Amino acid sequence: MKHLIIFGPPGAGKGTQAEKISQEFNYKHLSTGHVLREAINKKDDLSKKIIEIMNKGSLVSDDIVNEIIKQQAKDNKNKKFVFDGYPRTLEQAKYLDTLINQKDISLFNLIVSPEEVIKRLSLRKRDDDEESNIKRRLEVYHNNTDPILSYYKESDRLYKINGEGDIEEVFKRLKNLITN
Ligand code: AP5
Repeated sequence: MKHLIIFGPPGAGKGTQAEKISQEFNYKHLSTGHVLREAINKKDDLSKKIIEIMNKGSLVSDDIVNEIIKQQAKDNKNKKFVFDGYPRTLEQAKYLDTLINQKDISLFNLIVSPEEVIKRLSLRKRDDDEESNIKRRLEVYHNNTDPILSYYKESDRLYKINGEGDIEEVFKRLKNLITN
């Protein structure tokens, strides 16, 4: 089994699908958004800065996020990872290359329309799911994360997946590719 990266705009279902994959195939689900939200609970100076950034829909610095990945890789040495929300910048993708060979990774890009994303996230109501924030996150995603897809374009394991339809339907599409 290869490590997996799930790309997709906010609300594409990265977290939902990564969790299902981790349960079905015993992967370590690594969501940088989740780790950052946990770090916020510490209520120290760094967490105040992180809250501010996340509430604006901007990206937390590469240094902080790469440090999270480094620590998780160290703590889960023999695990296969399903990355959700990482890498999000070219710098992060290059950093990941220092930890895992690209040949050992399959990449899935979940395609979901902006209208569907807004519909899903308006129903969820997480702290950063306010409409203007969602729009900002979408913009940040396309500016920073779209270029990464070109970075991986040589990979013969970069797949576009239709992320619309119900959760089980999308999972079935992913499962077919993971097991083949
Ligand atoms: P993060 O937590 O990664 O949020 P996000 O990318 O905005 O993604 P979401 O969690 O909103 O969506 P998702 O695609 O995971 O969908 P989900 O499964 O949850 O990041 C938050 C913030 O942290 C960033 O803005 C940034 O500030 C910071 N950050 C994180 N990683 C970073 C990094 N690497 N570098 C720098 N900063 C970073 O589903 C969404 C909703 O839709 C749920 O309610 C779900 O039930 C529903 N749903 C899912 N699938 C379906 C379906 N098929 N049909 C109907 N509903 C569905």
